[in-house]
Amino acid sequence: MKDETTKKHWDNIYANKQPDEVSWTQEYPKASLDLIRGLELPKHARIIDVGGGDSRLADHLLDEGYKDITVLDISGMALKRAQKRLGEQAGYVHWIVADVTEFVAEKAFDLWHDRATFHFMTTPAKISAYLKRAKHAIKINGYMTLGTFSEKGPDICSGLEVKQYTEESLREQVENGFRKITCVTEDHRTPFNTLQNFLFCSFKRHTIRKGQAITP
Ligand SMILES: C[S@@+](CC[C@H](N)C(=O)[O-])C[C@H]1O[C@@H](n2cnc3c(N)ncnc32)[C@H](O)[C@@H]1O
Repeated sequence: MKDETTKKHWDNIYANKQPDEVSWTQEYPKASLDLIRGLELPKHARIIDVGGGDSRLADHLLDEGYKDITVLDISGMALKRAQKRLGEQAGYVHWIVADVTEFVAEKAFDLWHDRATFHFMTTPAKISAYLKRAKHAIKINGYMTLGTFSEKGPDICSGLEVKQYTEESLREQVENGFRKITCVTEDHRTPFNTLQNFLFCSFKRHTIRKGQAITP
């Protein structure tokens, strides 16, 4: 799918469907919050939710006292909806409308979080572009938390093909530049009362130079 078509697809979804009409809606992003808490980041840590859309993650992070939150999404419609929901609190979040595969961060982040966006990268070119942008945008010793459909999850979401991952295949996909810390699975109950099995893994960003050990 061309980038412009991807943007139109998602804008169309967020313009026409309510939260209870899309499968990914989640009142309480438990797996994401548990993994983020486990990283013991300071409250001033720079956190970005990539493909955050209308997710409640930003709301919960604000409630927990995090002070530097960015939400990026290809769909401006999605972010408008999140801003409307948050009301005055929206002013405490940075909002970026961009295709993640083209996103150039001005300042690096301590944590890059993504639930259900990376798995839409279904070609080697898209995966490689995504990871290149992520590596550029995450501080050395910073973290990346990815939530994708597991091998037991669906292979289509929102009418688009997705790539399912196992713990091993996700680790292999991102291993150049990231060390796996931990993975969990979560059965997400959709608004339609069906279950979707997600895999969430946290990685630590490191550098590798040829012939040298990983630092640190
Ligand atoms: C399945 S939804 C998940 C939304 C949110 N992360 C959540 O958990 O509720 C996927 C999101 O990824 C966004 N997205 C898809 N492709 C993208 C891209 N190339 N760059 C940035 N965002 C993208 C969509 O607009 C949508 O908000």
